[in-house]
Amino acid sequence: MTRIAVLGAGKIGEALLAGLLAGGRSADELVFTERHPERAAELSGRLGIEALDVAGAAARADIVVLAVKPQDITPVLAELAPALRRGTLVVSLCAGLPTALFEGALPAGTPVVRVMPNTPMLVGEAMSAISAGTHATDDQLATVEKLLASVGRVVRVPESQQDAVTALSGSGPAYFFFLVEAMIDAGILLGLPRSVAADLIVQSAFGAARMLRESSDHPVLLREAVTSPAGTTIAAIRELERHGVRAALIAAIEAARDRSVELGRAAR
Ligand SMILES: NC(=O)c1ccc[n+]([C@@H]2O[C@H](COP(=O)([O-])OP(=O)(O)OC[C@H]3O[C@@H](n4cnc5c(N)ncnc54)[C@H](OP(=O)(O)O)[C@@H]3O)[C@@H](O)[C@H]2O)c1
Repeated sequence: MTRIAVLGAGKIGEALLAGLLAGGRSADELVFTERHPERAAELSGRLGIEALDVAGAAARADIVVLAVKPQDITPVLAELAPALRRGTLVVSLCAGLPTALFEGALPAGTPVVRVMPNTPMLVGEAMSAISAGTHATDDQLATVEKLLASVGRVVRVPESQQDAVTALSGSGPAYFFFLVEAMIDAGILLGLPRSVAADLIVQSAFGAARMLRESSDHPVLLREAVTSPAGTTIAAIRELERHGVRAALIAAIEAARDRSVELGRAAR
């Protein structure tokens, strides 16, 4: 039995706990910490998982997952450092924070794995990218890979690529939500009821996502397959290109990467 403590059960922390339960872990293997007692009691009641303080959670855990906001990490590490048992694996979900920061604040030799997850973890469809710190072994990286595979997909990347990952898949769901929102507005402009427009677009997004994942074809080929000569799709594509949507997406993701770098620097 691997005991897991999640420190900070907000959106991502809760999604991980719920995903681990749904993936077959027993509530006895899990504990969490939360700053506000009301939130701790509510979540504990809903998931059946015990809430403890940081020291109590660390004393029990084989794996400690840090899921607080990056700006809240310093006091959590100060509490965690004296309580951490030797050999406990520390997994950080904190955007922008390098493994070196945790290695510097925790007992010498602490194995650390950095993860960039995303919110589809809530429905078991996360995309997580993981990187080993200096002391994490290949086995420990594989343990984290297995843990996160129960709540979605996992890739291994060098830590130097984590800011790019943050910009692509960490923030990625927000870009799709934004696109869907804009497309529903377009449906309303064309006179469709909001609920009908939403159904049409959400199912189209879901179907397109499945095709992208399940087909070995490049997205260009999938798009070409629905772009007939002098048809409706090419008329729309011309407008997307005329309004610079491709360039806007590239610039937006570059800005997200730059912001991730900036947040990492500020936290250090
Ligand atoms: N949301 C995303 O899309 C996303 C994607 C990838 C990575 N992440 C990373 O995941 C981490 C969590 O993000 P989130 O969106 O889940 O944030 P969140 O909803 O604010 O969750 C963080 C939770 O930790 C609690 N907390 C703060 N300090 C604490 C302490 N000392 N002890 C115990 N609990 C404490 C917070 O309580 P309060 O409510 O009192 O502040 C909050 O409930 C962040 O580092 C973020 O970078 C998030």
